[in-house]
Amino acid sequence: MVNRQGSIILLGARGSGKTTVGRSLARATGRGFIDLDEILIERAGLSIAEIFKRYGQPWFRRLESRVLRDALRAASSRSLIIATGGGVVVRQVNRQWMKRAKHTCVYLKCDVAELHRRVAGDASSAMNRPALTGVSGIEEVSVLLGQREPHYVALADIVVDVSTLDTSSVVERVLAAVR
Ligand code: S3P
Repeated sequence: MVNRQGSIILLGARGSGKTTVGRSLARATGRGFIDLDEILIERAGLSIAEIFKRYGQPWFRRLESRVLRDALRAASSRSLIIATGGGVVVRQVNRQWMKRAKHTCVYLKCDVAELHRRVAGDASSAMNRPALTGVSGIEEVSVLLGQREPHYVALADIVVDVSTLDTSSVVERVLAAVR
């Protein structure tokens, strides 16, 4: 259900624009903004690539869960926009928390070729997007989306296909859906 006054959680694959759209949505609505990856990097004092290298993905996922739990708590006492990492739906407990929190979940849906183009063209990818599977490039994007999209869809109150949209058009669509 769309909660018109409440907090908004942005879901979607790497490169779907969660952070950029989130900042813009926060400005447009006067809500605060939280980016889970940013908080995680701050707490660990390391880039995501470095966290994976030193401690491995399971450690990263546990920290991601703690950061999510804290963000959801903050979002129940004031209206926030929360940009998640693409893998936030991997752990069942995260999905349960997001479902129970009853914030409005928005899935920024994007096609595989466009996701790959955006991630490959983003200078921060090397620091923040370590390899997650045995395959790479567009194949990895496709494998991950195949595994995760059912979860994004199941959680979403609103789905916006962002494949051909710029940031302001995505923000407009989200606002139209929550108003
Ligand atoms: C991940 C996505 C990244 C970041 C980390 C893991 C994933 O966030 O949390 O590299 O598992 O898809 P973005 O979706 O913001 O790139």
